[in-house]
Amino acid sequence: MDSRLLRLFQQGTAAIALFVLPAGLASADGHNAHIAIENPAELSKEEAVAHYRSLNRRMARGYAAAQLDLILNYQSWPLFNDAPYISATHGQRFVNSYANRMAHNYGTLQEGEELPMGSVLAKDSMTVTDEGHIHPGAMFIMEKLAKGTSPDTADWRYIMVLPDGSVFGDTMGGRADAVAYCHVCHEQMAERDYTFYVPEEYQAGN
Ligand code: HEC
Repeated sequence: MDSRLLRLFQQGTAAIALFVLPAGLASADGHNAHIAIENPAELSKEEAVAHYRSLNRRMARGYAAAQLDLILNYQSWPLFNDAPYISATHGQRFVNSYANRMAHNYGTLQEGEELPMGSVLAKDSMTVTDEGHIHPGAMFIMEKLAKGTSPDTADWRYIMVLPDGSVFGDTMGGRADAVAYCHVCHEQMAERDYTFYVPEEYQAGN
């Protein structure tokens, strides 16, 4: 990473969102996973849903190469947003928010409540540029571990999987350092068990 990029990186996601990459680099995805793509397209909910439908099987096949049992068939889990929405904090990608059955109280968490052990939250992503290029993006995963397993992260495990199924980092496995920043940001939401949930205008009412 050159020093200018590094400086922007350190200034936080707002600055990163302003940093424009050449369109050709958008597919380099993942490797610069928190650097925004060029000009994310403005899509209606219907358009975002249609793009996702054209890509979701390919995305699932890509992530499946990671052979992580915890996200097996994640697209059949309850979906908490009514259309893919732009996540400024996950690299200006269009994201979805899935939660497995164990995470039954993800949508209704009250202050101080926690998700049960075995809860898995899976956020897949795609990039859509205003030139109409659509690419699968990274998958962001949180898993609630048994009490005491990871005291530094309130027993949350964070994993990022690249579109080709390679694991960018896993706080309980390889390249843990590469994903240590996940919890640092999610800590803002400690009173909601470290989850941000879905922006109001996209909540599906699950
Ligand atoms: C700069 C802050 C920030 C960082 C860094 C960050 N997240 Fe998030 N995360 C959010 C916000 C905000 C949301 C909810 C809104 C959205 O989707 O953008 C979210 C949502 C999620 C969700 C859905 C569960 C929830 O919180 O409701 C998962 C899963 C997730 N992030 C995983 C990750 C992983 C894995 C990483 C690291 C690779 C990561 N996040 C890094 C801010 C962050």
